[in-house]
Amino acid sequence: MIILDTKKDFKKHINLLKSKGERISLVPTMGNLHDGHLSLVKIAKQNSSKVITTIFINPLQFGKDEDFASYPRTINEDISKLKKLKCNILFVPKNQNEVFNNIDNLEHLKAGPKGSILCGKIRPGHFDGVLKVVYVLFQLTQPDFSVFGLKDFQQLYLINQMAKKYFPKLKIICAPTIRNKNGLALSSRNSYLDKKSIKIAPLFYKILLDGINNLKISKNVEETIKYITANLEKNKFLVNYVSFLTTELEKLNSNTSKRKILLSSVKLGQTRLIDNIEFS
Ligand code: PAF
Repeated sequence: MIILDTKKDFKKHINLLKSKGERISLVPTMGNLHDGHLSLVKIAKQNSSKVITTIFINPLQFGKDEDFASYPRTINEDISKLKKLKCNILFVPKNQNEVFNNIDNLEHLKAGPKGSILCGKIRPGHFDGVLKVVYVLFQLTQPDFSVFGLKDFQQLYLINQMAKKYFPKLKIICAPTIRNKNGLALSSRNSYLDKKSIKIAPLFYKILLDGINNLKISKNVEETIKYITANLEKNKFLVNYVSFLTTELEKLNSNTSKRKILLSSVKLGQTRLIDNIEFS
């Protein structure tokens, strides 16, 4: 695996791959790689001849009271994991200038109304920051494919919209959520959970699943949201939101034929957890 830390070297290698006609997949990450990330790399490998992973903790997507400083940094372990999977190139920008040397040029990248609901409501500006870094990485890499996890459903939706507009040839691949055996969706932030919370956390997914069953019987979205919220609160989760929407992140009408999704974010102690379940 080739490891690069400057934009100049990265571009040089990309040009080389392109000149050889390689099909490139990009897997953008913030590091602290777990099996969820590794599944993205595996999917990338199945779809292309060369896989590029990036590790960059993007300051623009963290609010001022958020965990940018304490976000887990495990570069040596990450490198070993990627080597094992035979990732071809790892780009770890050595500083922010290697990514954002002209931030004013990115002002047009706004997540818009669908970036201001759900997680965007509790983390103002978060998705603008995500779109900016992903746009820069797409511009640098010009990949044929890029893989993102369905766990961050709203992020994936917004990246897909951005890609359609600015990178029409790029195919975004949606990768299934990887869960531990208790159902908890894997996330780098799970490492913040203390011993007690680690035992409670899997209830999040179970309560959401139960909520979907409840909706199927009651057919009442508002009542089901109250039911799920009460269940979460009873189990010590602080609820940020519980929302039933279409997979286009639009309001759900009772007789819709569109695909449906339940999305939620909670806090358990100081740790924010998100999850979602698509259902019919
Ligand atoms: O999902 C993440 O890890 C990040 O939001 C991403 C897409 C790598 C952008 O920084």
